[in-house]
Amino acid sequence: MAKLVLLTLCLVGLFSCTVNGRPATFLQDFRVTWSDSHIRQIEGGKAIQLILDRNSGCGFASKYQYLFGRVCMKIKLVPGDSAGTVTAFYMNSDTDNVRDELDFEFLGNRSGQPYTVQTNVYGHGKGDREQRVNLWFDPAADFHAYCILWNHHQVIFSVDDVPIRVYKNNEARGVPFPKFQPMGVYSTLWEADDWATRGGLEKIDWSKAPFYAYYKDFDIEGCQMPGPASCASNPNNWWEGAAYQQLSPQQATRYHWVRANHMIYDYCTDKSRYPVTPPECMAGI
Ligand SMILES: *[C@@H]1O[C@H](CO)[C@@H](O)[C@H](O)[C@H]1NC(C)=O
Repeated sequence: MAKLVLLTLCLVGLFSCTVNGRPATFLQDFRVTWSDSHIRQIEGGKAIQLILDRNSGCGFASKYQYLFGRVCMKIKLVPGDSAGTVTAFYMNSDTDNVRDELDFEFLGNRSGQPYTVQTNVYGHGKGDREQRVNLWFDPAADFHAYCILWNHHQVIFSVDDVPIRVYKNNEARGVPFPKFQPMGVYSTLWEADDWATRGGLEKIDWSKAPFYAYYKDFDIEGCQMPGPASCASNPNNWWEGAAYQQLSPQQATRYHWVRANHMIYDYCTDKSRYPVTPPECMAGI
C-alpha cells in the first residue's frame, strides 16, 4: 500500500519513481552521459525518451553508485523495424581493470521477429558469460519491468517478475562474485548492427530513423555510495532476506519455463567457446 501511494506521488511529480523510498527525479538522480540532444523528458517529465539517429545514440546514468540492492525500471523498446539497435540497462563499477558489471541488452530485430535479451555478468574483470532469451511478448508495444536484484547470495535478472537469469555466488568454487565495488546504473541506446541482429546479418534501416526507446518508473533501493560503510554488510537489508537468497518454488517454475522455451543461447553449453564447462555453470540454481 505504501508503495502504491508513493507511486501515485511520483506520477504527479517529475520523472518517477523512487530512490531508497524517496521520490526520484531525472534531474536529481540521473545525469546524461552521452548526447544531451538525444534525450528528452516527456509526459511532463514522467518519462524520458531516448533517441537514436544517424548522428548519435545517447545514454544516461545514475549520479550515485550502489553496493547491493535492487534496481528496476520500466522500458518500452524501439518498435517496428529495430534491427541493429541495442538498448541497454546495466550496472557497472566504472573500473577498467577489475570491472564488475550486470547487463541487460535488448537486441532489436526486423518487424515481427522477436527481440532478444542478452544478459552478462562481469565479476572482478571476468565477463564472457552471455545468455540470450527471446522475449515472449512484444516489448515495444508497452512498458515492462526489468529488474536486477543483487545481494551477497545471487544476482537475479527478471522481466515482469519472471527470473530470466540467476547468477549464484560461487566463490566457494573459486568464481569471483561482484561484492566489493559499488556500481552505477546506466542506460544507453545505440547502433550495433555489426553484431546485434542475427549476428550482424541484419543491418539497421536508417530510413526508419529516428528510433525511440522510453523509460519510466525508476526504482532503486540499495546502499548508496558514498554512504554509511556498514550499510552493504547489514543482513537486515530487505534484499538480503531469506526470500531473496534463492528462488521461491513459483519463481523456479517460471525460470525453468523461460529456460526450456525461450532461451536461445547459453555460454554454459557453448563447447566451442568453453570446452571445459565453467564452474559456475555446474551449480544449478
Ligand atoms: C531475430 O529474429 C530471428 C528470426 O526469428 C531470430 O533467429 C533471432 O534470434 C532474433 N533476434 C536477434 C537479436 O537476432
